[in-house]
Amino acid sequence: MSISAFFRSRASVRVVLALMAAATIVAGCAEIRKATYPQDFVYLEPRQVRSQMALMSLYMSQIDEILADSSTISSEQQTRLVGILNSIDEVTNRLGAGEVQTSHLVIDDHIDDFKADVNVAMREARADPPNYYSLGKLAGSCVACHRYRR
Ligand code: HEC
Repeated sequence: MSISAFFRSRASVRVVLALMAAATIVAGCAEIRKATYPQDFVYLEPRQVRSQMALMSLYMSQIDEILADSSTISSEQQTRLVGILNSIDEVTNRLGAGEVQTSHLVIDDHIDDFKADVNVAMREARADPPNYYSLGKLAGSCVACHRYRR
């Protein structure tokens, strides 16, 4: 079929109608997205969650190493511990701590509690004299959220 014959045919009408319908559906989806995703909504990809979790376990093993290494923590080690806690705090921000609502319900419900525990551990680790009691218990806060995983 030549191009001009195509445009005169019934097939072309069907194609045009199909394209118009598709455009309407796409526009409709865009509206629904706007309506259901408020500005502070973050869609967390499962692999983003997994990579942030992998980071957290790396940080936790670094903390364990320092705490297991010595009975007294030097001020250099103290600085490192506070730095690691800061990195964990940044992970909680990437996972939507605070006002942000995310697509991951378990994380959305529990990340703020975890962030609060991280901040207590940080405050105590920075104190003079420093105290690492809450830091030592932080792994329990990981478990507290993992309990809700399906
Ligand atoms: C607010 C909830 C929450 C907190 C807090 C949390 N996790 Fe997770 N974690 C999850 C969820 C949900 C998954 C499952 C992710 C997936 O596979 O979709 C997960 C998965 C993991 C995984 C992947 C392997 C596995 O067990 O499935 C590791 C490792 C992990 N978390 C480590 C940690 C560590 C270490 C901490 C604490 C420093 C922590 N997580 C704190 C929710 C949390």
